[in-house]
Amino acid sequence: MPLFEVLGSGGEKTAVVIDLGAAYTKCGFAGETGPRFIIPSEIQRPGIQQPVKVVQFNINTEELYTNLKDFIHMLYFRHLLVNPRDRRVVIIESILCPSHFRETLSKVFFKHFEVPSVLFAPSHLMSVMTLGINSALVMDCGYTETLVLPVYEGIPVLSAWEALPMGGKAIHKELESLLTEQCTVDTDSGTGQSLPTVLGPVPEEVVEDIKVRTCFVSDLQRGLKIQEAKFNMDGTAERPAPPPDVDYPLDGEKILHIKGSIRDSIAEMLFEQDNEEKSIATLVLDTLVKCPIDTRKVLSENLVVIGGTSMLPGFLHRLLAEIRLLVEKPKYCDALATKSFRIHSPPAKPNCTAWLGGAIFGALQDILGSRSVSRDYYNQTGRIPDWCSLSSPPPESLYDPGKTPPPLMKRAFSTEK
Ligand SMILES: Nc1ncnc2c1ncn2[C@@H]1O[C@H](COP(=O)(O)OP(=O)(O)OP(=O)(O)O)[C@@H](O)[C@H]1O
Ligand SMILES: [Mg+2]
Repeated sequence: MPLFEVLGSGGEKTAVVIDLGAAYTKCGFAGETGPRFIIPSEIQRPGIQQPVKVVQFNINTEELYTNLKDFIHMLYFRHLLVNPRDRRVVIIESILCPSHFRETLSKVFFKHFEVPSVLFAPSHLMSVMTLGINSALVMDCGYTETLVLPVYEGIPVLSAWEALPMGGKAIHKELESLLTEQCTVDTDSGTGQSLPTVLGPVPEEVVEDIKVRTCFVSDLQRGLKIQEAKFNMDGTAERPAPPPDVDYPLDGEKILHIKGSIRDSIAEMLFEQDNEEKSIATLVLDTLVKCPIDTRKVLSENLVVIGGTSMLPGFLHRLLAEIRLLVEKPKYCDALATKSFRIHSPPAKPNCTAWLGGAIFGALQDILGSRSVSRDYYNQTGRIPDWCSLSSPPPESLYDPGKTPPPLMKRAFSTEK
């Protein structure tokens, strides 16, 4: 056997790790400390100016297949520059990902790119792996939603998840309407013009840039006063003095004046309680209430917060302060004995924590082989086992096309027919 075949990681090439988020896709190789690329989850279509989002659940399967195929093609052949047939794939997914999406994604990987195997790894579980602990209460505050899921002794407690459609997307929508209503633009031709007359609809990447560069999360005292002033229509509650306005250059000549009152209040929507008295802070406590009583202390002392929206300055501090305030309220005080809450700081930026967990898991090659769904198994059964489907994938070692399938697989085949 030539020497080069035995060098390196036992002859097998490192797996590709992909976190396909609604806003950004993180991709790279197992065993590395961070993703090689973070790119928008979008593809450009000829003749259409607006890029098409790849993670969409409400489109038909053929369109989704084509979008995913083109996007994954771009990942492999423009960014990663490796042969898909050579490497196993680890996909970081949300537990709420609809079955038809993961089935279409598997079809793209197995049928079009002919990858050797695919492992679907839940993002919350992978994040816990980066810390070397077994139990944690994980909150993912990303683009479309905030999802809280406890992981106890390495097992996600599926019955206890809580979610709200609050994340980057909701903030962008609100910020866009506030900018349009309240902010003015100076151009060469005049000052104090309204934003829509100069720019038309504000592109989402501009809104996002304004958010990331100028906005922050207020602390608890200030936040409560802002909320009080907003909802108290009689004008008795006074709003705290806003931070300074900021001049944002839209492009060389146009200057947008962003009001200080927008900068400190835009993230309040995450912490304001809605009609059902839910905010992203109550999600944590509601999840704890749903967990078995003997797991709560461990979970509350091991909070892990992931997702890009939690990178807003002041987010973690506010979250902790909100939780500590809420836990004194009768609704939670009686149900929860635990009063100590602590947040971990994982060894990666919050938007890449789940990816890093996948990269660590993907580097354990023996385990990866036995946990993944192989191409042979997929070709035989045409399906991907799911946490909500009863038959788990048989380890690859058990499967040999020449032999009679073991009883578990026989059952899987027979129910398919
Ligand atoms: N430094 C930052 N400060 C504030 N917000 C940020 C920062 N970096 C990223 N974001 C925001 O985080 C969001 C993307 O987060 P993330 O990459 O976790 O989402 P995703 O995984 O694509 O989405 P989802 O998990 O909902 O599928 C975007 O709305 C982006 O504006
Ligand atoms: Mg995500």
